[in-house]
Amino acid sequence: MPENQYELLISKAKKARNLAQARYSKFKVGAALLTDNNDIFTGCNVESSSYGLTICAERVALTKALSEGATSFLAIAIFAKDGYICPPCGACRQLLYDYAPDIDVILSDGSEHQIIKLKDLLPFAFDDSQIGK
Ligand code: THU
Repeated sequence: MPENQYELLISKAKKARNLAQARYSKFKVGAALLTDNNDIFTGCNVESSSYGLTICAERVALTKALSEGATSFLAIAIFAKDGYICPPCGACRQLLYDYAPDIDVILSDGSEHQIIKLKDLLPFAFDDSQIGK
């Protein structure tokens, strides 16, 4: 993937973060998920007064994409705040793995980014091969 496409995804993640509903933690996160058609689906975290119902930015982006018919994904960018890299939580790693096991995860700290394969973030993953699909 060309570098300028990474930068575009990061800028979409940063913009999506502005809409985060993070009134309890005050920790805002944005994500942008790229499909193989070059569509980008964004998400922000949405918190609940019943804290455990909170949905992370990554899962919002993924469920938006799936519910709009997207099926194949290349990369997801995640941004939380300047100077800090926000690795996806375990639940997001699993759900992303279920639908997009081969994606690159782009972690931005606002100025620099690192790119890690989802497979390296979730080794020895549970998937549908264990349940016979
Ligand atoms: N959060 C995300 O949106 N993505 C992550 O990868 C880590 C955590 C959100 C959930 C919650 O709203 C806040 O950050 C603090 O945990």
